[in-house]
Amino acid sequence: KENESLRGVKVLVTAAGTVEPIDPVRYIGNRSSGKMGYAIAAEAVSRGADVVLVSGPSALIPPEGLKEFIPVESAREMMDAVLREAEDSRIVIKAAAVADYHAKEVADQKIKKNDKELTLVLEKNPDILFELGKRKKEGQVLVGFAAETQNLIENAKAKVEKKNLDYIVANDVTKPQAGFNSETNLIKLIRRDGSIEEFPLLSKRELAGIILDRVIEEKKIQKI
Ligand code: C5P
Repeated sequence: KENESLRGVKVLVTAAGTVEPIDPVRYIGNRSSGKMGYAIAAEAVSRGADVVLVSGPSALIPPEGLKEFIPVESAREMMDAVLREAEDSRIVIKAAAVADYHAKEVADQKIKKNDKELTLVLEKNPDILFELGKRKKEGQVLVGFAAETQNLIENAKAKVEKKNLDYIVANDVTKPQAGFNSETNLIKLIRRDGSIEEFPLLSKRELAGIILDRVIEEKKIQKI
């Protein structure tokens, strides 16, 4: 029999990296492939959830059976979609690699090269997850991701507090076969109470299942 553990539950997932335009042909981006977020969305669909996937540009094909697929480009576009969709979502999982900055001015025309230096001024993007944490509803579960290259646990724990999260999935992106673009991931699941669960190298789909299992069990998720 199918796993129906999320039947009738709305799950909002974000995936891939945002891209921040510089001019009509250039952007600032990052190495996120979207594989972790798409795996979570697919796993939630297979458990019967109403899944909304908000994704930055990705080469991946959205999983079948989504309630809605919302493609976005910039962090600010992602924020609009996420704040709207989070309103009635029971579980929000933010696997997207959101750009921290955008170009202050986006040129109307392609920027021409010359012999001089080019300076780009970057302005801070809003922190979508922080905004979600501020607006968190009774019973809503917020899961963040933390890709770090140093002080993994310490930085991840600080984010749980600052962004009012229930869980953070921390991965050390300096490890081979973990993080960006790989089929596998090496993660630690950190709870709000500070407890840490560490997993061996597993496929992103298997990890998606584990993350959902923990949330369902520990937060007593049922249809609301
Ligand atoms: O602060 P940091 O970017 O490391 O936090 C990572 C988590 O916060 C991820 O879940 C990411 O999706 C989210 N985030 C966000 N908006 C930003 C930056 C990060 O939602 N501007």
